[in-house]
Amino acid sequence: MIKRGLFILFEGVDRVGKSTQVQALTNHISNVQKLQTKSLRFPDRTTPIGQIINQYLQNATNMDDRALHLLFSSNRWEARDSILELLNNGTNIVVDRYSYSGVAYSAAKGIDFDWCYACEKGLPKPDLIFYLTMSSEDATKRGEYGGERYEKLDFQKKIKQIYEEKLVDQPNSKQTTWKIINANRPIDEISNEISSIFDSEFKNIQSSPIGKLE
Ligand code: TMP
Ligand code: MG
Repeated sequence: MIKRGLFILFEGVDRVGKSTQVQALTNHISNVQKLQTKSLRFPDRTTPIGQIINQYLQNATNMDDRALHLLFSSNRWEARDSILELLNNGTNIVVDRYSYSGVAYSAAKGIDFDWCYACEKGLPKPDLIFYLTMSSEDATKRGEYGGERYEKLDFQKKIKQIYEEKLVDQPNSKQTTWKIINANRPIDEISNEISSIFDSEFKNIQSSPIGKLE
């Protein structure tokens, strides 16, 4: 019988190095562990819904905050079947942002936290979440804030606060393991830590069923 794939998620504010670490862990799982792996990211800007989100992020359009929130959530729901198919076929997925980004960014705008979380319930649940963190000032100094809508220091601080006070290791993320990773270190040091956590945990996780966000 094929073992199911794992759903590994990276979360954190902008510019903490998530995409680099998604790539590094994907390489590790396929080249070192020799397991099937695919990386995904949200928003998935390639779908029609993703294109509307992309226009908003690039300041080309304005939208009601709740309508936008629901589009981000829809962009995950439209991926649900393919995520489950990958996992059930034994492919590990390494995902750059998911429901927790959805909640943190929208709640940071002042939208009710529980309302934000409600439309995520029922989506496939990540097995392991790496939360990359560093001071907001240090993240800003990394430059290359690409001019996208949310890349402003004060807003980034609010998002970080929501993650750390209301999401990381909180009851509504129950049964999912959060690993808090100090992202203000050399890339290799971070990726080695993440790979060794994966190596020590993946066998245990494979034997548990795929969960749902609740
Ligand atoms: P990216 O920079 O990882 O491509 O993500 C684009 C922006 O969208 C980023 O600032 C985080 C934000 N975002 C939300 O506001 N809600 C969501 O559900 C997701 C996945 C991302
Ligand atoms: Mg970004």
